[in-house]
Amino acid sequence: MIAVTDLEKVYRQPNREIRALDGVTLQVPDDSVHGVIGQSGAGKSTLVRCIALLDRPTSGTVEINGADLTAVRAAELRKARRRLGLVFQHANLFDSRTIAGNVTYPLELAGVGRAERAAKASELLGLVGLGDAGQAFPAQLSGGQRQRVGIARALATDPDVLLCDEPTSALDPKTTGEILDLIGALKARLGLAVLIITHEMTVVKRICDSVSLLQTGRVMESGSLVDVVGRFGSRLSELLLALPPTADHAPDGGPTVEVLDTVRPGDAAALTLAGHELGTDLPVLAGTVETLAGVTFQRHRVLVPAPLDADQAVAALRRHGAQAAVTGAAA
Ligand SMILES: Nc1ncnc2c1ncn2[C@@H]1O[C@H](COP(=O)(O)OP(=O)(O)OP(=O)(O)O)[C@@H](O)[C@H]1O
Ligand SMILES: [Mg+2]
Repeated sequence: MIAVTDLEKVYRQPNREIRALDGVTLQVPDDSVHGVIGQSGAGKSTLVRCIALLDRPTSGTVEINGADLTAVRAAELRKARRRLGLVFQHANLFDSRTIAGNVTYPLELAGVGRAERAAKASELLGLVGLGDAGQAFPAQLSGGQRQRVGIARALATDPDVLLCDEPTSALDPKTTGEILDLIGALKARLGLAVLIITHEMTVVKRICDSVSLLQTGRVMESGSLVDVVGRFGSRLSELLLALPPTADHAPDGGPTVEVLDTVRPGDAAALTLAGHELGTDLPVLAGTVETLAGVTFQRHRVLVPAPLDADQAVAALRRHGAQAAVTGAAA
């Protein structure tokens, strides 16, 4: 379990202060993945560095399984950090070490003996699907394989927590999927609390149980994936259930309505039901569908045909359980 409370990080420079984290509070339970998204400069990497105490927070606390890392004295920090595994965009492997030697580097630092290290390397490399690569060198591996080595190395000290800063940003979509599936499988197998920083919505949708939107060092929105996507009009809902770009107005300038419908198995969509009630179809200008944690979300922008007015359409959609709002007024 990761519990970050009121975390602040201020970088002081001669002529100004940068408040990179401005009161961040979030929790990541064991056996779950929390995503943090936000624009460049939002403070995402600072958050990871402060949780790992690679950078000292200005104030606030970072608890791992109830123990406050910010209260640990410098001399004991190295030991405390073994509870955290870190994965970055690039694995940054030592080219002159074998893969096994890279994986067990943290154990070497911790003074673990050779035989134990060798056993751990083979266990971890098996876990990440590189059982045969122990004696190879980094130059012989693909980007995805190198990231698997980076993940194995992050797990060398048997951490409870995995912090991943853009772990798939340098990978192609197929390899990204494979690495995310690996992180998901390791999370379940080892009961890890995983924090993953990303700018890719596909990453959030594929692996995260919950997500936060960070903006200028503050958590603007946060919640389970199903909750945030279901919050009609919220930024996270719009990012995770994005409509393809179309004009906000109907081609003929008529009114348009935006609809967010949560469709459970066996249910009919509100759009269909509202159409029946109104005695006319509401033509779809743009639409998107996502199934997240077993719940299907449909977001549509629809045209309101004359002589119907937009408020009538919105009311009918709401009566059938959808969230709806007028987005384009009549010309
Ligand atoms: N060591 C530092 N000294 C001074 N300012 C810093 C330092 N590290 C980060 N910052 C500033 O803090 C803010 C947050 O930076 P951070 O690297 O956390 O952003 P980010 O969300 O990870 O961005 P990106 O998506 O580009 O990786 C930025 O304004 C950055 O310039
Ligand atoms: Mg960053």
